[in-house]
This record gives sequence, C-alpha cells and structure tokens, in this order.
Amino acid sequence: MRILLIGGGGREHALAWKLSQSPLLSRLDWAPGNGGVVPLCAAVPILPEDVQGIAAYAAKSRPDLVVVGPEVPLAMGISDMLAAEGIKVFGPNRQAARLEASKRFAKDFCKRHNIPTSGYWAFDNAGAANSWLESYKGPFPLVLKADGLAAGKGVLICNDASEAKEGIASVMERKEFGRAGETLVIEEFLRGEEVSVLAFCDGKRALLMPAARDYKRALDRDEGLNTGGMGAYCPSARVSKALQGEVLKNIIEPVLLGMSKEGASYRGVLYAGLMLTESGPKVLEFNCRFGDPETQAVLPRLSSDLLPVLMACARGDLSDLELSWSEESSVVVVLCSEGYPGHYPKGREITGVAEAEKSMGVLVFHAGTKREGGRLLTSGGRVLNVVALASDVATARRRAYEAAERIRFEGMHYRKDIAENI
Ligand code: AMP
Ligand code: GLY
Repeated sequence: MRILLIGGGGREHALAWKLSQSPLLSRLDWAPGNGGVVPLCAAVPILPEDVQGIAAYAAKSRPDLVVVGPEVPLAMGISDMLAAEGIKVFGPNRQAARLEASKRFAKDFCKRHNIPTSGYWAFDNAGAANSWLESYKGPFPLVLKADGLAAGKGVLICNDASEAKEGIASVMERKEFGRAGETLVIEEFLRGEEVSVLAFCDGKRALLMPAARDYKRALDRDEGLNTGGMGAYCPSARVSKALQGEVLKNIIEPVLLGMSKEGASYRGVLYAGLMLTESGPKVLEFNCRFGDPETQAVLPRLSSDLLPVLMACARGDLSDLELSWSEESSVVVVLCSEGYPGHYPKGREITGVAEAEKSMGVLVFHAGTKREGGRLLTSGGRVLNVVALASDVATARRRAYEAAERIRFEGMHYRKDIAENI
C-alpha cells in the first residue's frame, strides 16, 4: 500500500517509523517530512497548511491512504477535500475537527451530549465578558481560553478579578491570539492530575490507546510558559483498566454518538485531555489528531501493525481489529532550541544523534531538524525527541536522559524532571 503522511514534527516521524515496519507498506510519501530518515519513505515538499497543494498531489499520485498529523489541515477541511476525490483519509472531516478548532463548540457539544467537563461561559465581545466578570461571585482561579487554534498557547489561568480583566483585554482587545480570540471561553478551574487518552475511531467504535502523561510547561516543576509539550511517559499508572472503561463509556463513545447524531462521522484519532478530579475524569480539551509528544511515547509500545488500524478507521470499520501493547514503559524527553517556546534561532549544527541511538532501548525521533550538505541542523523549536523503553518507568527515564546527554547543539535545553517521582 502507498501512504501519504502529512506533517513534519516528531509525531509524524514516529508515525512514519511505525508505518515503515508494516509488511503491507510499499511506499511512504512524507509531506514535508524533516531530518528523520525512514525506510521506503520519500519527502514531498508540500506544507501541511497548503491543503490545495496536498489535495492536488493526492489526486495525481492516488495513495491508498492519507494520514493527517497536524490539526490545521484538518480544521481547514483536508479530509473533506480528499474524500471528494475518492481518496481514503485518516483524520476527521471539518465539522468533526471543530472539537479542537473551536473551544466554544467543544464545550457546547459536551453540554448537548452530557459529557463531563467544567462549567463555562462564552463571549464574543470584551464588553459582555467584562460585565459578566463584574457580577461574578464564584471562586478563582478562572481559566480564559481563546476559542480558536493557538498552538496550545491561548490559555490563561487567572487568579483574581484583576488578572481576569487583564486576560480579557489581552485576548479580545489587544488580540494577542489574533482571530483565535474573537470568541472567549471562560471556564471553572479543575483540580487533579492531567492525562491524555487517545482513541482510534471509525465513526462508531473506538479502541483506546494506553493513557499517557504530557508535560506542557517549559520548565521543571511545571514552571514557565505553556509549550506544545516538553516530554511524556506511557502508560500512566493513574489510569486503571476500570478508569479506561469509564473514559470510553462516558467520554469517547458519547463523542462518536453525538457527532453521528449531528451528521458527522468521527474517523481518526480522538484525543481527550482529561483532568482526573475527585468526581471523576473531566474533559479539559479535545484534539482531533495524535498528540505530540504523546504519540512518540505511545506508538513504540504498540506491538500490532499500525497500518491496518489506520485503514480500518478510514474505511469506517474497526470491528475486526484488536490492539496489542508491549508491557514496557516509555519516556520521551523533548530537546528544544534556545529561547523556545519564544523566538529561537535555526540552523545550528546537531551532533551525537547516532551515539544516542546506540543506547539500549533508545529511539530518536526528529522534529525541528533538516539535513543540509551532510550535516544535521536545527530548524524548529522542538528539535528532537529522545524516547526510551524499559521494563519500568524509572529505568526508561534513566536511559532517555543518558541518551539525551550524548546529543549536542548550541543553546539546547530540555526539562530534567520528565517522569520523575511517579
Ligand atoms: P487546553 O489547551 O484547553 O488543554 O489548556 C492547556 C492547559 O491549561 C491544560 O493542559 C491544563 O493544564 C490547563 N487547563 C485548561 N483548562 C483548565 C481548567 N478548566 N482547569 C484547570 N486547568 C486547565
Ligand atoms: N501534547 C499536547 C498536544 O498534542 O496537543
């Protein structure tokens, strides 16, 4: 089978790596790819945001399946465009992708379908948000969110009314998140432990992947700015079999049923970001795609062939499939460019990747890298993902950090507390 994979991050390198192990794969086109090298794989220079370009390339090359990594092309309707060409696609259509593309849509959807989440209020102008705030007598913190896609950065935790007023001004008056902030969602603050649960979905049925824990803040002890994700481990000991069953029954299945009642078939990965509260798991956010870096922790533990699973989701029938998972634990450490998640330089030379890859149980997935004249250079904020597998999390953690120390580029930084004390 020929596959076209969209996206150029660590998540996509992990997908390419796993797909390349499938005996069913004959060719993998990777648009645009990165500095990671994968057998049977050819880079195609089209960016994920160029949905017209992707659709035109697919219409010409007729892959058996298109696998979409990032959210932006899904929110722009790439799945609908490919379906119109008669091409199978792994990733939800535009209507279903609104679960990620609009936080207001996601909250209203949860309310309509009785899916547990925090209480919320939504506003489309600063005046209305401010008058609501003046009369608000409830507890703080409050969580302010720009409605649209903001690369994980459009969320503000406000500890009192003056911080909330300032938050409203930054989102709605100064428009710091651009058009994503045209609508503002204010949520009650939830307390507990966060986990990410990802599910393969065929529109009706879902197969859960083992829960992973992501580290979103830039610095150790969860300090610093929000990022796309600085590390992860899998599985999360907090999510028992019973809790997985609860998440499937109360969250994932109601999403699929709700979507189909509203006229959309959810096919692809549904990612539920959950807070494990005293009164059970509650939805913090939905994503309509694999998580990054959760995928880099989850896929190396999948013993089954990934390709038939993605194909079954795209065809709308997962019923004959079962997934098997390795007993090992995995830990991912994300190596970042100087300045990330703010501005960062590009083009710095990277050394030591081959040495790191020789370490026991270690894989290195590329994210913001490119190859130029035989050299490997940085080309993004999150540069490399060092993944280690071992029989327990503590050993996987030690292996990942030892391997990370073998890699060098100027200004490189990473969190030192991924999977610590768990
Ligand atoms: P989101 O992009 O909606 O997942 O939000 C980013 C991060 O903000 C989450 O991973 C949480 O750490 C935090 N967060 C979001 N919503 C809430 C909430 N209602 N209560 C507490 N923390 C939240
Ligand atoms: N790791 C968070 C995300 O993929 O959105």
